[in-house]
Amino acid sequence: IKKIGVLTSGGDAPGMNAAIRAVVRTCAYHNIECIGIYRGYQGMIEGDFKEMGPRSVNNIVNKGGTILKSARSKEFMTKEGREKAYQNLVSAGVNALVVIGGDGSFTGAEIFNEEYGFSVMGIPGTIDNDIYGTSHTLGFDTALNTVVECIDKIRDTASSHNRLFFVEVMGRDAGHIALNAGIGAGAEEILIPEEDLGLERLLESLQRSKASGKSSSIVVVAEGEKMGKNVFQLKDYIEEHLPEYDIRVSVLGHMQRGGAPSCFDRVLASRLGVKAVESLIEGKTNFMVGLIADKIVLTPLEQAIKGNSDIDRELLRVSEIMST
Ligand code: F6P
Repeated sequence: IKKIGVLTSGGDAPGMNAAIRAVVRTCAYHNIECIGIYRGYQGMIEGDFKEMGPRSVNNIVNKGGTILKSARSKEFMTKEGREKAYQNLVSAGVNALVVIGGDGSFTGAEIFNEEYGFSVMGIPGTIDNDIYGTSHTLGFDTALNTVVECIDKIRDTASSHNRLFFVEVMGRDAGHIALNAGIGAGAEEILIPEEDLGLERLLESLQRSKASGKSSSIVVVAEGEKMGKNVFQLKDYIEEHLPEYDIRVSVLGHMQRGGAPSCFDRVLASRLGVKAVESLIEGKTNFMVGLIADKIVLTPLEQAIKGNSDIDRELLRVSEIMST
């Protein structure tokens, strides 16, 4: 390996910059050239490259977003797009890639490896935490802290007005953000796609909560929950059945993806970046680096994409007990 290309792809996540920095500096440490590829696979197709050295990543360990920018490239899903990208990499002398992103980005990397035998290594970067082979994806911890801070603030106004709030959080099809932040913020109920609580039980629980003398209620709703109603329809439904509740909805949205990464995400990004580059140097390819039981380990990309990042049943139980 003489030259490694690094890119960020899909939804940005706090900690991506810290991972770019780690990749660039590990390359420099091992005397390998490094280029940054802008706008993910789209920049690869357009040859939007920049040589990077240890000083090009000064003061970014603490920055949210990604200095390399990100995109979800439709063109890379076509054979023609990938051919252009391959030719650009060959012309630039790049012979291995580090892809920082989520499952969509890893799928692209895997296909690229299959078609061209190109060396690829994935670093899991998404706030959703929906990747198999790592207990934490980059950005998840920061997003949880952001969500908890927001819900704490919502709690202040909710209890001042004796209100019930439905708070919608991100996570695509996964409930990791909702479940963890919900417990952290003391939510009365947490609705996630992995566990269908059912409308009846939600009604009962809210009735119980009111009867037990709670002055406010927070229901955290994962954006992917499958109760057949979006957060506004849920509000209408509860309003209709429990008119004693004064209800508001808050959709947290993209603020969950921004902000300075937590220390946990910065350290994780640094560890993953080092391991990604050193694994490529050792001749490994088509893996993702991840964190399992506080050790950095490799998981085949295919497994990382297709494996199930199950939610923790213990957390479900804790959340149930906590809402007593
Ligand atoms: O995958 C990260 C994520 O923020 C999801 O939680 C959310 O469903 C999606 O991206 C939003 O995507 P976009 O920024 O394209 O609207």
